[in-house]
Amino acid sequence: MKTDKLSQIFLLVVAAFLVLKYVIHPRIPSSLLYFYMMIVIFAVFIYIISDTKLLQDFLNPIKSIIIKNEDPLIEERNKEARMLIFGLLPLAVAVFTYINLSVGTKQPAELRSIHPEPPLQILFREKPLRILGLKNPLRADKKNLNKYIEEGAVVYFENCFFCHGDNLDGNGHFAEALNPRPADFTDPGSISQLQESYLFWRISKGGQGLPAEGTPWNSAMPSWENVLTEEDIWKVIIYIYESTGMEPRRWEEKPLNR
Ligand code: HEC
Repeated sequence: MKTDKLSQIFLLVVAAFLVLKYVIHPRIPSSLLYFYMMIVIFAVFIYIISDTKLLQDFLNPIKSIIIKNEDPLIEERNKEARMLIFGLLPLAVAVFTYINLSVGTKQPAELRSIHPEPPLQILFREKPLRILGLKNPLRADKKNLNKYIEEGAVVYFENCFFCHGDNLDGNGHFAEALNPRPADFTDPGSISQLQESYLFWRISKGGQGLPAEGTPWNSAMPSWENVLTEEDIWKVIIYIYESTGMEPRRWEEKPLNR
């Protein structure tokens, strides 16, 4: 029964790893996976040392391999186990470290025009929309603004947060894999420099819809035209501005009389 405790604990850790890696959807990033695994191992460790008997059950099989056994037959087997543990394990760590430290071929950062000129007009599901001067129609309905913000949040968390992140800072689950990275909406150089119509264009047409001066783009920003309705897009735009506390850029307006 002694070896059982050790293998049980080993299986538990492996099971936790498999669940975290393959069962949970959407897939969690590897840094988070390591973090969770550290918590699991730490918890298992605390569990083991909380009970002397358990600790002994856990340590005995390890001890019996390391400490010389009187029985020459068992000692012969232990020798092999020792070789495996003290030879192969460090070798595996060395190989792993080498693979991680060796310099690969990484894409260089690309210089690009971050906010190219938007087209004057786009076709949204075949309906012509004039981007120039276009205002967010939902803003006129001030009474329902809070409702739009809430509905925009739902659109955001169903579609955008995987890349743009739950803090809207561009650090979503997929961000590490993308070059250019997802836009950071909390950056002062991002949405506060842009009109809402600009966002409407970018969200509906995505990376594919970027004009030639935006190249080379390789942008992973999807085109949402056929996924979201016009209203959904205006809602998510309101949500993005509201939750970052940013103001959209507006057309120059007559100063208010005070
Ligand atoms: C697959 C990842 C991914 C998803 C999902 C995604 N985006 Fe993006 N998004 C990007 C990337 C990458 C960029 C930066 C490159 C670019 O501008 O095309 C970007 C750029 C943008 C920009 C341009 C910001 C600027 O400063 O010019 C807006 C606006 C935007 N995304 C909104 C959204 C909204 C709203 C959603 C959800 C409906 C969404 N994105 C979903 C990857 C994604």
